[in-house]
Amino acid sequence: MVTISGITMSDLPRRSDGSESVANTRSAANECRRTPKDGIIAFVAEWQGEERLAGGAVTPVVRVGATVRRATGHWSPRVHELLRHLEAVGFDGTPRFLGIDEHGREVLTFVDGEVTTYEPPAGMYTEAALTAAAALLRRFHDATVGFVHSRVDGWQFQVGAPRAGHVVCHNDVGPYNAVYRNGHPIAFIDWDFAAPAPREWDIAYALWRFVPLYDDPTCARLGWPAMPRGPRIARFLDAYGLDDRDGILTVVRQRQEVVRETIATWADAGDPVFAAMRREGRVTDIENDIAYVKCSHDQWEPFLR
Ligand SMILES: Nc1ncnc2c1ncn2[C@@H]1O[C@H](COP(=O)(O)OP(=O)(O)OP(=O)(O)O)[C@@H](O)[C@H]1O
Ligand SMILES: [Mg+2]
Repeated sequence: MVTISGITMSDLPRRSDGSESVANTRSAANECRRTPKDGIIAFVAEWQGEERLAGGAVTPVVRVGATVRRATGHWSPRVHELLRHLEAVGFDGTPRFLGIDEHGREVLTFVDGEVTTYEPPAGMYTEAALTAAAALLRRFHDATVGFVHSRVDGWQFQVGAPRAGHVVCHNDVGPYNAVYRNGHPIAFIDWDFAAPAPREWDIAYALWRFVPLYDDPTCARLGWPAMPRGPRIARFLDAYGLDDRDGILTVVRQRQEVVRETIATWADAGDPVFAAMRREGRVTDIENDIAYVKCSHDQWEPFLR
């Protein structure tokens, strides 16, 4: 079990603190972003023996045999170093980094299993799946403890996110970035936002996505059954082994605000992917989630004791 103090808003650098503009953070990935030519690209990919994978909203992703190819960005060398470190210490919950292909894309092992989007297939929301996600996150964080301190830069930081911590956080853990087997998450994928941060930063995000902390209409829209959130929050934190839970719901809201701010800032800066997300209503969805977490705070708080 670990005890970690909560994060206060003042720990978080804000926009004026040099948060990145799209132009200098995402340009490499932008080169390969989805466009109206998607159909042609998919056709060419197939012709070349590549299978366009579902998702890939942020990064075009194709499968080539037993490998996955993804566009890279300025953060990729650091992420590759992380994946190699995780392999070296025996953490098996990630694809392996195999190298860079002739098109400059990262080559990762294809992890066999079930994948999902925001709509979880039946079975992925069981208590066993929830606790397996927490245990996997804990094992990942623990595997980064000796690695993180000497790698302070080179990561892709979200707008207003912490820039240091005792572990590397994945920063986008959810069912849609996990591979499941027999209904349990066995690996996290999509490591582009990995960066140093306190453990709670990832735990808060994982609560949002795996419990999940969506209101009933949102759960119904996405295909989640309406489950009591308080006991599931406690179940996740128990399985992770987080002792000091006092501030965790506040961190959830801070975490959500950083995602909202990141989409808005990068959309304002002209990034087409984030502009599309805003047009599709993602910022509004997040604001709805923030309001829901805020108004549920007193109801969930007893489950933290
Ligand atoms: N290593 C892998 N093994 C198996 N499937 C993978 C792997 N990497 C990616 N995928 C599949 O490709 C999809 C998109 O990949 P990824 O999540 O890395 O990109 P993305 O840009 O974040 O897409 P999205 O916005 O949909 O999350 C995943 O949802 C998954 O189905
Ligand atoms: Mg993804």
